[in-house]
Amino acid sequence: MNPSTNGHHGAALEIAGLTKRYGRLTALDDLTLSLAPGEVFGFIGPNGAGKSTTMKIVAGLLQATSGSARVLGQDVATHGEFIRRHVGYMPDAFGVYDDLTVTEYLQFFASAYGLVRSERRKRVGEVLDLTELRYKEHARVEGLSRGMQQRLGLARVLIHDPPLLLLDEPASGLDPRARIEIRELLKHLRTLGKTIVVSSHILSELAEFSTSLGIIERGKLLVHGSLAELTSRARAHPVVVVTTPSPEETRTALSNDERVTRIEMHGTQVRVTLDSPQTHLQFVIEKLLAAGVRIDAIAPEDLSVEEVFLRLTRGVVN
Ligand SMILES: Nc1ncnc2c1ncn2[C@@H]1O[C@H](COP(=O)(O)OP(=O)(O)O)[C@@H](O)[C@H]1O
Ligand SMILES: [Mg+2]
Repeated sequence: MNPSTNGHHGAALEIAGLTKRYGRLTALDDLTLSLAPGEVFGFIGPNGAGKSTTMKIVAGLLQATSGSARVLGQDVATHGEFIRRHVGYMPDAFGVYDDLTVTEYLQFFASAYGLVRSERRKRVGEVLDLTELRYKEHARVEGLSRGMQQRLGLARVLIHDPPLLLLDEPASGLDPRARIEIRELLKHLRTLGKTIVVSSHILSELAEFSTSLGIIERGKLLVHGSLAELTSRARAHPVVVVTTPSPEETRTALSNDERVTRIEMHGTQVRVTLDSPQTHLQFVIEKLLAAGVRIDAIAPEDLSVEEVFLRLTRGVVN
């Protein structure tokens, strides 16, 4: 079957109005998202936001309440076999197969995917090399470090060479060194042209190497775009930090102006959020001078990745 005849317009993953309810709880609320082939999508959100629910539905393991998800044009709800062959899903909790060796573990999944014996050996060797686990091929899975177990988890989802990978918090619970190893491995997978959805509750972990980012909270996708796009959206509301011996007077002088959307007090520092990039530092200075407020220092706030995240999730930007 040619997926391109199914009206997916070339998207690797197309999610439309996806909703999942557990009784009265709406775990996923009208999620819409489209990923092009080769895209690396960083799926960011706190615990309970709905990341795992989304991945399980796309992997065909959980039924949505409404809405749809299509992988390469095929609906996940009705094309189970297609999804199994084209999606590699790595769950957040690593399954334990304690008494198997690394090779046995991978061969088990290779046969589950219907690879014939010769193909199986070749493929197991390839994924062992890819994840740098060749030297552990005869080691027992239970004896591996947490970082190695995560790499083995990745080796497992790569065994049938699927074009779409769903990796649920692959770096969670790892030490810094193992985190870096996982990140390097993901970078390598990106060069293989795979479409990757990778989740985390830490933005900075995914920010630099994802081609696009989505922030989900309480089942709703708040924003979606490249880091550059998200940063410029956050910049649409510049923040000026005023250091002053008179924070209360500063607040009073600025609070009645519609160009000021938010004022936060932190001791002698006052954070002033402005309504548009056209509203400058100059405007704040003029207001404060007119009110006779003493300014010790005034500067536009630098936007770190974390600050972009905070602004986008605090509801300052929509
Ligand atoms: N099987 C379930 N039954 C009831 N509620 C669930 C179930 N699975 C997940 N939830 C709830 O759905 C919400 C989203 O969960 P989840 O998708 O696991 O979030 P995340 O992966 O972002 O931490 C949470 O409030 C969670 O408690
Ligand atoms: Mg989860």
